[in-house]
Amino acid sequence: MVAKQATVLLGVSGGIAVYKAVELLRLFQRAGMDVRVIMTQKATEFVGPMTFQTLSGFQVRLDNDGGLRQDSTITHIEEGNLADIMVIAPATANTLGKMAQGIADNLLTTTYMAFSNTVVVAPAMNTNMWAHPAMQRNMDVLRADGVYVVEPGTGELACGVYGSGRMAEPDSILAAVKLRLQVDRKTDLRGLRVLITAGGTREPIDSVRYIGNRSSGKMGYALARAAHDRGASVELVKANIDLPRAPGVRETDAPTADEMYRTVMDRLPDYDILIMAAAVADYKLDRNPQDGKISKSRDDLNVCLQPTTDILLQASTIKRHDQYVVGFAAEYGPEAVARARGKMERKRLDMIVFNDIARRDIGFSSDYNEVTILTPVGETRVERAPKETIAEIILDNIARGIKQKRTAS
Ligand SMILES: Cc1cc2nc3c(=O)[nH]c(=O)nc-3n(C[C@H](O)[C@H](O)[C@H](O)COP(=O)(O)O)c2cc1C
Repeated sequence: MVAKQATVLLGVSGGIAVYKAVELLRLFQRAGMDVRVIMTQKATEFVGPMTFQTLSGFQVRLDNDGGLRQDSTITHIEEGNLADIMVIAPATANTLGKMAQGIADNLLTTTYMAFSNTVVVAPAMNTNMWAHPAMQRNMDVLRADGVYVVEPGTGELACGVYGSGRMAEPDSILAAVKLRLQVDRKTDLRGLRVLITAGGTREPIDSVRYIGNRSSGKMGYALARAAHDRGASVELVKANIDLPRAPGVRETDAPTADEMYRTVMDRLPDYDILIMAAAVADYKLDRNPQDGKISKSRDDLNVCLQPTTDILLQASTIKRHDQYVVGFAAEYGPEAVARARGKMERKRLDMIVFNDIARRDIGFSSDYNEVTILTPVGETRVERAPKETIAEIILDNIARGIKQKRTAS
């Protein structure tokens, strides 16, 4: 319903997965979208433009169209002006590399450079190509430039190898595009300031060793990016995250529990919403970490720990009535949801997001999550989905929650 009347500019580059772009075009149309197609020269060697032209109902744009059309419009600018979103699927290593480096030597890459709305790419290539450091560097650049990536899946590839690099299924690409179109139209966090923590703190033992956890920061990062897209002014307090910068988001490093505590307490008065998605260590060394490296010559090594400061509890203690504080609870085993609810009540939070760390296919380090959103008055279960989707649902609930809270007071 939201995606209705949207126009998708489908860029098709030259890999085996071009045939899947035909199915994708059909899915876009069934979802009520117009689809206009640009193909690279190489793509036309896999599936002819006639197929895309007949199905789309629009002339397929090709390199040899020439820059200037008969009606005096310039193709790469005109095509971009007509579209709400540009989707490049399949996106070859070559095309992605050119996009990352700003090389505009064909119609598809020139249109990308001239396009000012959201761009989604669905990479498709051989496993070794996808894993190549040059490819991953290019992907980091594209993400930092604000391009949305529908990550390739794992499976049997056309070259007979089993591995990562297979283009995401057309229905996953459709879902990502619908989400982007919806989000582009959502401005429910405009004017709000959101402080988000992400990653896992590391508590030093000596100059080289630390006690840490497996949090990758992906959930907090997805929340930061999504909140920014919905109009919020966002600061991400990061603990040991190895992810590219989120466009438009202010970032501050806080690698230990103490630094995170100090940063959150310092910033909180300036923000409307605090989302504590970071995995903060509960314990740290009970003394200053030793300079240098503790020698291995000892038979055993006893490390004594003391509790760190409970940031959520402290934040709740000092928060103003109009501020909204959200915690995360990574729980394990029976009664896990009840324990998460207990934590929310004890710390007087406005919301807690529970995820079950007994599950291996979601949560830490994974691109997926499955959560239960708890508030003092309700409970929403969100089935397994990419962290970007989970982030949007969490923010839907936060946007509603803070509005209700402020209206009620
Ligand atoms: C049979 C065949 C299959 C190919 N499949 C892929 C692929 O899946 N992904 C990819 O990045 N390149 C693939 N290539 C290489 C690209 O076609 C090549 O890099 C080309 O320059 C891409 O041009 P384009 O990005 O302008 O479409 C394939 C080449 C051939 C001959």
